[in-house]
Parts: sequence; C-alpha cells; structure tokens
Amino acid sequence: MAATLSVTDNRTGKVYEIPIQNGTIKAMDLRQIKSGEDDFGLMSYDPAFMNTASVKSSITFIDGDKGILRHRGYPIEELAESSTSFMEVAYLLMYGDLPTETQRAEWRQRIRHHTFVHESIKKLMEAFRYDAHPMGMFISTIAALSTFYPEAKEIMDPEIRMKQVHRLIAKVPTIAAFAYRHSKGMPYIYPSNDLTYAGNFLNMMFKTGDSPYHIHPALERALTVLFILHVDHEQNCSTNAMRMVGSSHVDPYSSTAAAAAALWGPLHGGANEAVLRMLDEIGSINKVPAFIKEVKEGKGRLMGFGHRVYKNYDPRAKVIKKLADDVFEVTGKNPMLDIALELERIALHDDYFMKRKLYPNVDFYSGLIYQAMGFPKDFFPVLFAIPRTVGWLAQWIEHLQDADQKIARPRQIYLGHDVRTWVPIEKRGR
Ligand code: ACO
Repeated sequence: MAATLSVTDNRTGKVYEIPIQNGTIKAMDLRQIKSGEDDFGLMSYDPAFMNTASVKSSITFIDGDKGILRHRGYPIEELAESSTSFMEVAYLLMYGDLPTETQRAEWRQRIRHHTFVHESIKKLMEAFRYDAHPMGMFISTIAALSTFYPEAKEIMDPEIRMKQVHRLIAKVPTIAAFAYRHSKGMPYIYPSNDLTYAGNFLNMMFKTGDSPYHIHPALERALTVLFILHVDHEQNCSTNAMRMVGSSHVDPYSSTAAAAAALWGPLHGGANEAVLRMLDEIGSINKVPAFIKEVKEGKGRLMGFGHRVYKNYDPRAKVIKKLADDVFEVTGKNPMLDIALELERIALHDDYFMKRKLYPNVDFYSGLIYQAMGFPKDFFPVLFAIPRTVGWLAQWIEHLQDADQKIARPRQIYLGHDVRTWVPIEKRGR
C-alpha cells in the first residue's frame, strides 16, 4: 500500500494524497491545499517546534520514551565508559566513524596546533569588568574571533571551513579558562599541548604560581566523561540556533556565539546553575517536602527535572549519578547531594511528576560534581559550551552540506490590524 496521507478539505470537498516518508509529511505539500484561487495555501502552526522536523541528520539519535541517546550509532553509556579521550569522540561526531590510531593522532595534532589565542584576544578579555559573568565573556569572545580570521566567511571551501572547526574546538577551553581567571584576578595560564584536552583545561583553570599543578587522574577522567556526555543532543535550542544562524551563511564564530547565547538560558544549559541555586535555597533535607509542594502549586519548577524529548530517565543523568561517587571520593561529598537525592526520591514517587513524565535530566547532578571540583556556579554554562561546540560544529557542517536546506525562515499567522490610515498626532486623543 502506498505510504500516503489522504486529506479531505471539508471547505472544498477536495481530496489530496500527501506522501509519507520517514514517518513525516512535508509541510510544503500542504501548500497545495487551497480554499480558493486567491488562498495562499495551508500551513502548519507549530510554535516551539513541538512536532516539526527541520532537518535530516545522521549524527545523534534520541528515543525520549525509552531514554536512549546514541552518537553515530554508539550508545552514550558505551562512549562514556570506553572512550578514554574526548578528542576521539569529537572525531566521531565530526567524521561519522571512530578514528584509527593514526587518524586520532593527526586529529589531536591539528587541534593542539590551535589552542593558543591571539594576544589581542587576551587584551580584549582583560577589558571586561572584574565581576563579568564568564558566559557573557565567553560568548562575546567567540564572536570576536571572527574579526581575527576573516577568511572564515569562506564557508563553502571545505579546507578553510575545517580550519575554523579546529580553531574553535582548540580555543574554547582556553577562552573559558581565561574567563575564569579574569573573574579571580589571576594571571592567564597558556595552554600546555602535552596534556589531554581535559587535563590542559584543568591546568589552565587551576594552576597557581610556578609550581606544576597536579591533575588528579580521577578528576581528569570525570571531566572527560562529562565532556563526552555533553558533546551533542540533536536539535535542541542551541543547536537549532547554530543551524538557524548558520543558514544565513555567516562565519562559524558568529553562529557558535549565537548557539552559546541560546545555551545560557535557564531552561537550557543554565539549568545546572539553577539547580544549585535551588538546592541552596532549600537548604536542608527536611525542607524538601515543602519545596515539592510549592512546585506542585505552580510556584516554580523543580530545576534539573523534565525534558522536551526525554519522557524517561535521561541516560546522561544515570552516567553522571555514578560518576559523582568517583569525584566525591577525591573531593569529599558535596553537602547538597543529600538534598538532591531526597528531591529525586520524592519526585519519582509523586503523582504530579509521574503523570507528567518528569525525570532528572543531565543537569540535575552535573552541577554538584562541578561544584565539588571547584568550579563556581556561574561557570557551569561555560563548562557545557566547551564540549557542545563540537556538536554545534558537526551539525553546522551537516547543515551546509544538505541540499534540502536554505536560509531558515519560518512563516507566521498574522493576527494584527488590516491596513489603517495614518492619524496625525493632534487627532489621536490624550
Ligand atoms: N518542575 C515542575 N513542573 C514541570 C517541570 C519541572 N521541572 N517541567 C515541566 N513541568 C510541568 C509543566 O508545568 C507542565 O505542567 P502542566 O501540563 O500542568 O501545565 C508539564 O510539566 C509540561 O511542561 P512543559 O513546560 O510543557 O514542557 P516543555 O517540554 O516545554 O519543557 C523543560 C521542558 C523546559 C526542560 C522543562 O521541563 C523545564 O523547565 N525543566 C526545568 C529546567 C531544566 O531542568 N532544564 C534543563 C533541560 S536539559 C538541557 O537543556 C540540557
């Protein structure tokens, strides 16, 4: 039987056969459905893209009902468990397959070559106020990179395009660490290219004075896993921003800055910061029931719970919960952990949360780990943006190579005034 959808327009009595492909109809196929000659044609209305696929993608697969997340076919749990390097996962996202040893060494080398930033970037960052939010600094500095690499606008040249990809992946940890050091009034530490991606980042963050900074292997491993867990998540708000802005064919620094700006919002990457503020506000385990009651009365949300796509336990949250034990063994337990565990215990058995399928998401526990590792709360979105830059770039390249794509430009349903005649100010009343 043909995979089509028969649509009867009751305004005209006409029947249309709309092809179904990949479980989807093309919104443009609705345009032929017209009530009369002058009719523009039927559109679909989908605020917040609740049921609209805007791309075909081969990068990340999510089954939200089953709690499945895979990159290029590999389950996230396996990548987090088996991959010892973030660079390897970055390669997988970018090229579609795990690298051979030679490919991995070459890729690492290409990234390492670009970890330093221009001294003027450093000066630019120094100009921020002492208390500037690190994510604001991060976003602005990423945008500023476009002025340092004017060739980046040649986005259809694969070689030039890839060079900006290397630069961005290499420079985001440096810029992130500089933003942190700035807020502490500490001198910036330049990259050490003999270290791993996570190790170099930790060194740039926490090294003090001339003595070498000892990178604890368990913390370096934990950060590598956290980077892997955050590398991509298909068409979320920031990735959509990357593709949307990128569809205008602007340079990748400008699109990445836009994506990072989207990530900063408390409903997206800002949620783990919000989780810790919420835990601070609750203060102790015995206040958890009262807090849950308030959430159920609509007086705020349980941050770190719920997800647009996952209607089950976020698989990343499961890995992070396990990882927390390894980190706390080194750093000592985060005193807020008990409040978080109690919130989860109550919420998972409460009708309100069960009925709405609200489960912990990736942000529920990540903030506790970051805090225990010494990262301040307002730095959490920056920590998210570092690995997600890889996902944004992989999605951006896929977008540019997709013949179906054009500049992204949604339609609207205009509900405003019909044409009106200008009224002089004296005649507009008081
Ligand atoms: N606490 C309490 N109630 C919630 C929560 C929550 N965290 N999340 C959703 N709900 C309720 C809503 O009030 C709504 O109830 P109603 O049907 O009675 O009106 C219902 O569940 C559906 O919620 P929506 O807002 O329609 O769900 P949506 O898919 O739009 O939102 C979102 C998803 C934004 C993640 C939401 O769950 C939320 O605000 N969570 C808290 C913030 C958070 O943790 N964000 C991180 C997401 S993960 C990430 O970006 C990496």
